[in-house]
Amino acid sequence: MELDAPPGPLMSVLSLRRWLSPYRGSLAVVLVLELGARAAALIQPLAARQVVDGVTEHSSLTGPIAMLGGVALLGLCFNYFGFYQRGKLSERFVRGLREAMARRIVGAPVSAVEASPTGDVLSRVGGDTTLVQQTTVKALVDLIVVPLTVVAGIVLVLSIDLFLGALVLVLLAVIAFAEARVFRKVAVDTEHAQEHVGAMVGVVQRILFAFRTVKAARTERAEIESFDRHAESAYRANVRAARTSALADTVAYAAVDFTFLMILAIGVLRVSTGAVGVGDLVAILLYVVYIQEPVEALTSSASRLSEGLAALRRITGLLSMPQESETLRPLAAPAGTPSAETRSVKVDRVSFDYGERKVLRGVSIEARPGVTVLVGPSGAGKTTLLSLLERFAEPDRGRILLDGVDIRELDLSDLRRRISYVQQEAPLLGATIHEAATYGADGVDEHRLGRILEAVGLADWIATLPDGLATEVGERGLRISGGQRQRLAVARALARDSEVLLLDEATSQLDPINERHLVRSLTRESRDRVIIAVTHRMPLAHEADQVVMLRAGLVHARGRHDELLADPDYRELAASTTTANHSGHPR
Ligand SMILES: Nc1ncnc2c1ncn2[C@@H]1O[C@H](COP(=O)(O)OP(=O)(O)OP(=O)(O)O)[C@@H](O)[C@H]1O
Ligand SMILES: [Mg+2]
Repeated sequence: MELDAPPGPLMSVLSLRRWLSPYRGSLAVVLVLELGARAAALIQPLAARQVVDGVTEHSSLTGPIAMLGGVALLGLCFNYFGFYQRGKLSERFVRGLREAMARRIVGAPVSAVEASPTGDVLSRVGGDTTLVQQTTVKALVDLIVVPLTVVAGIVLVLSIDLFLGALVLVLLAVIAFAEARVFRKVAVDTEHAQEHVGAMVGVVQRILFAFRTVKAARTERAEIESFDRHAESAYRANVRAARTSALADTVAYAAVDFTFLMILAIGVLRVSTGAVGVGDLVAILLYVVYIQEPVEALTSSASRLSEGLAALRRITGLLSMPQESETLRPLAAPAGTPSAETRSVKVDRVSFDYGERKVLRGVSIEARPGVTVLVGPSGAGKTTLLSLLERFAEPDRGRILLDGVDIRELDLSDLRRRISYVQQEAPLLGATIHEAATYGADGVDEHRLGRILEAVGLADWIATLPDGLATEVGERGLRISGGQRQRLAVARALARDSEVLLLDEATSQLDPINERHLVRSLTRESRDRVIIAVTHRMPLAHEADQVVMLRAGLVHARGRHDELLADPDYRELAASTTTANHSGHPR
């Protein structure tokens, strides 16, 4: 799969540093507040010792008690602000990741996006970022603050009594060692779980994408089983992670309890021999309690961080998608080299392969204002040729010229502004007819929009709709008819008013009368526009200024429709599509 980042926890921690670096300031504030809270906790046993010593020595308690109360209050303040700032930082961090992901996806080349499973991408943007938000910052802060707290606590215990301090140290070291081992295992399980969640989302996405087909093919059960399989695997992996975490947690608890009891037993012996005072023992026991809590937090932080890092690894995988701005470097010449050529699109000896699969072999086409129709059997490379014009992919050999300028010399966004494209499936974006017809065509006025809708033959239909232009078209335009969707897609392309119009089977779902109407309007609209239309249908070829027939990646024939009828292969293609159209057979 394309999205995988280089594995390994070290890489993840490094990438975490990279992604957190814009928030260094906030992270420092959080660390200071959290350290403040921990320091207040560490001072409390010392204050408590003074209270105990005050009682045993019958001296004044006001000072020690005031100090104890003051320190506790200060600790609470640090705690509140630390908690709040940490939460805010988590949200900012994740917002940054999400925004970066959206930009990387939108900026990626067509090939990279089409090679990535949609469900997987969705679960990275949704699920993984949520996981990072819930785990990473807290865990990271804990992993920095807690060891410092523990070290400070141990130093303080050692300063009170060397023997008991050493005992605490040994016991805590054992706990820390056990936890380090857990860290890795939980990470592996969590990453597995997230991968299966991605695949599971993919199944739902596939069902929704072809819902009618799934129903008609009666594959609901098979789809559900496939969903369940991934859900089950995610469940298993997460349960494994939960078991490991539970074990680690219990061991840590037991170890701390054991430490507490050991210190209590040995401490009482030492008090009886007079080696330490009662106040000292109270302070040390309080330290064990105060250190216990962060050590436990460390266990969960370790596993949370490993979950967060696993999610972050999947996120950085997506963030390492190639970008068009990097892969499509402009040629040396500056954008828009002036050229004396009049409006034209020239495909000059272009060859293109999808990996091992040869698609276009030395194709040359010249299109001038008017309609150029591309015909040819399915799989001949027609759609591929249009995608090279849009620079969705780059020719392996040859070049493409727009008005005499190599399109690689043009700024990508400028190139695409000058071309309108209706892709083969004609999906719509936008909730209503108005939004769909003006998508990407800013500033088209209502009068022109009306004319365009008239030209594509939708005006009468829209006039009958109660909501008119505000009628909802449904997601991808699925709530209107196939032919209406196609005409709306053509309207959108016309509304953009670009020099070149690429239509990939944009009239395939129209009845012959509407198709002829649309073709005539297009011809009228295209006096100074280059239209390149892919079609399997003859009405468009009849009306075209030029027909180019592609076959097996080569230009098989070119000319006007009547001239081409002399070619037996073209005649056969024309005859077959015409009869198919007339008899209403699907093609
Ligand atoms: N993304 C891709 N990766 C690999 N091969 C591809 C890809 N897209 C298309 N192909 C292959 O390239 C060849 C040309 O495909 P293309 O879509 O250009 O054909 P077409 O002429 O538009 O066909 P149709 O009339 O069926 O739309 C086909 O053999 C197809 O299998
Ligand atoms: Mg095609």
